[in-house]
Amino acid sequence: MSFPFSFYQESAQVIQNKLGAFQPEVAMVLGSGLGFMGDVVENPIVIPYGDIPHFKVSTAPGHKGQLVCGTLAGKKVAVMQGRMHHYEGYSYEEVSYAVRVLKLVGCTKLVLTNAAGCVNRDWEVGDIMLITDHIKFFMESPLRGDNLDEFGPRFPDVSHIYTPRFQDAARQSAQKLGLTLREGVYCYFPGPQFETPAEVRAARVLGGDACGMSTAPEAIAAAHAGMEVLGFSMLTNMCAGILDQPLSGEEVNETAEARKGPFSELVLKCLEKM
Ligand code: HPA
Repeated sequence: MSFPFSFYQESAQVIQNKLGAFQPEVAMVLGSGLGFMGDVVENPIVIPYGDIPHFKVSTAPGHKGQLVCGTLAGKKVAVMQGRMHHYEGYSYEEVSYAVRVLKLVGCTKLVLTNAAGCVNRDWEVGDIMLITDHIKFFMESPLRGDNLDEFGPRFPDVSHIYTPRFQDAARQSAQKLGLTLREGVYCYFPGPQFETPAEVRAARVLGGDACGMSTAPEAIAAAHAGMEVLGFSMLTNMCAGILDQPLSGEEVNETAEARKGPFSELVLKCLEKM
């Protein structure tokens, strides 16, 4: 099914009513490890997803399920503490629904972060990757169904989903902080099972540097709606088949937790330049 444009307007209206005169410009969808950044937003206005019509709840561990609006690094932000994933049973349209709503609320910029598996054998667990592009061959697009011309064209150009000037800001920010910043291609898999070693080899051959179960759908919806996007992956584990050890959600959360300090510093530094 396709949601009508009026659904997005209804959701946006409820948010706007709660925000009053406050007008966020940067939307942030924070994945595993960075959810706490919503807790350090200054002068926060917190809106549980359940209070927003047509919003879905997030069920993934560590995803609180609320929108926190306020100021972060001097920028007016709308932070999604928790995202929706396709593996939770949501359609891609539902997964990226909130991004479109936040565009209507006035956000023209989007920061996406995630935890991902590392495909690139030259990198290490705990490295941070700037997403320069993605591969999302599998399953349908969040734009499938009736095109909502109010957001963008039927056939959007996705040559530069991850905005070049934001990538430059990320490189400069990492350098200032003395942080090693990897750059690469995020390969989207729907999950919830981790990839097989053969899928990881295929991702590598195709040019992928990381594998993950989020971000690409939201980035596509954002690009369609003309938003500028900055994306980062925290590489929480080597992908299946690289090390002789089983993968687990616990390992992902542990690494994300251990590396949240430098990761959040980088995101904050970037925000200043966005
Ligand atoms: N694969 C997919 N998604 C992930 C992984 C992985 O290895 N690690 C964290 N998220």
